[in-house]
Amino acid sequence: MGRFRHFINIIILVILSTVALRLLFDVILALPMAASAEARPIDHLFNGHFWMISFLFSLIMVMMIYSIFVFRRADGDETDGPHIHGNSKLEITWTVIPLMVVLGFGVWGAFTLNEITRPKDGEMTVNVTGRQWSWSFKYPEQGDAAAAELVLPVNRTIVLKMNAEDVIHSFWVPEFRVKQDLVPGRETTLRITPTEIGNYRLRCAEICGQNHTTMEADVKVVSAEDFQAWIEQKSAGPSFADMTPEERGAYWASTEGFACVACHTTDGTPSAGPTWQGLYMHNVKLADGSTTEANDEYLHNSIIDPNLQIVDGFLPNVMPGNFGDRFAEREQEVGAAEGIDLDISADLIAYIKSLQ
Ligand code: CUA
Repeated sequence: MGRFRHFINIIILVILSTVALRLLFDVILALPMAASAEARPIDHLFNGHFWMISFLFSLIMVMMIYSIFVFRRADGDETDGPHIHGNSKLEITWTVIPLMVVLGFGVWGAFTLNEITRPKDGEMTVNVTGRQWSWSFKYPEQGDAAAAELVLPVNRTIVLKMNAEDVIHSFWVPEFRVKQDLVPGRETTLRITPTEIGNYRLRCAEICGQNHTTMEADVKVVSAEDFQAWIEQKSAGPSFADMTPEERGAYWASTEGFACVACHTTDGTPSAGPTWQGLYMHNVKLADGSTTEANDEYLHNSIIDPNLQIVDGFLPNVMPGNFGDRFAEREQEVGAAEGIDLDISADLIAYIKSLQ
């Protein structure tokens, strides 16, 4: 059998193996649905890489396995193989071709990055804030409407202006494909053009502490009309003056308020922080061995200065110590808008009181 025949065999086997592996990738590495305009160029790039990976793996494996079976030493053959002192032409070829391929992928990637990050017509800005361990969103072009879920009109490019309050977080909705870190002290930007109406889930893609895995938010892509209706309903907002302290407390505790529920459950199950159910006026065992009563003063101190008394079984420095400042800011905002005197800490304690 001539050399030529081996080449033909290997070429055929490499082609078959490459196609088979590429098809296998679609089964075992299937990407989630593509729901944004940015997903298309990224998926093309993924596709190119999958083909390249399939081909390289096949090229090496086919040659190796083919050689093992076809070029076996014959029984009784004790001679050495021929001595080979390299082959310049071959070495130049296997250096230059991969170099071209890698450069090609680099240029392709640069064009893709430019396409998904460049400003587009009719953009709309949404401010995103990430903190341990919740997300919140503000719509500066819609009168600063605030929400704990991200609602987006379909087929319009959204510019997310993102800020982190404490540590690095990362904005990731797999169906949109794009991902961007939120870095404390620096605003980062991400562009998304949702193309499919539906419900998605935003997750934090950067390990950011104890409750990192629960740092999620709902993402809803809706029609332009539904978006308008949602904004109008949002802008009406809650009227704090009309609410009881317990109702306000429940609102402050929710992800639309200060997201206490990210770490404190109201059903008795422990989380990053102690549960609020049945807490009020009950005895609390502290980490230093002493016991205290969960009265108004204890609860107030625990909210404003969380490291003062650590509950047995929980860690210090988990709860942010800046709620006093954040409450004061919000109290002033609402006070200016509704002309009422708020005490957010007292509202929260009233709410905890109701959770018996
Ligand atoms: Cu935020 Cu992980």
